[in-house]
Amino acid sequence: MLLMKDILDEKNPILREISQEVPLPLSQEDEHLLMEMYAFLENSQNEEISKKYDLRPAVGIAAVQLGILKRMCAILIIDYDEDGHILSKTGYALANPRIVSYTPKPSYLKDGEGCLSVNRNVDGYVPRHAKVTIKGYDALTKQDVTIVARGFLSIACQHELDHFDGILFYDHINKKDPFTYIEGALVIE
Ligand code: NI
Repeated sequence: MLLMKDILDEKNPILREISQEVPLPLSQEDEHLLMEMYAFLENSQNEEISKKYDLRPAVGIAAVQLGILKRMCAILIIDYDEDGHILSKTGYALANPRIVSYTPKPSYLKDGEGCLSVNRNVDGYVPRHAKVTIKGYDALTKQDVTIVARGFLSIACQHELDHFDGILFYDHINKKDPFTYIEGALVIE
């Protein structure tokens, strides 16, 4: 299983490189990697397992964070009700996902973003698109998918796809005024 020691730190210059598309159908190696990445997210969000292996809870991971320059990422967003029951579970293990359209309306997380490769808090609003449509191949369902992502999912997808192009979330933060007003933005709590 993947552990925190497998994840590159932001100081590693590989994180700034451009990842390449992978051939489809997926090789066994690539499919295995995607499944390992998805399992990492599941483990990281499991209270017992994350404690045992000291995993930071994460909703997304890109292959480049493991030092592999391939345009692959996993995303797992689980919503719970007040009693801790699962309301919805949205998960993907994507190869070659790309944004095919987006709304100009901006959006950002009220509390800012984090990243498995960034072991510190970086304050500030990270402007994203409020809605993006993504096409790619999903190894979980073994089919091409079109994802219309809004809200938190939209932000998580854009964060992961940025990794393919060597971009980290704080690159988007206004350096002079990290909490500057973003006109017309959808604020996500
Ligand atoms: Ni990240």
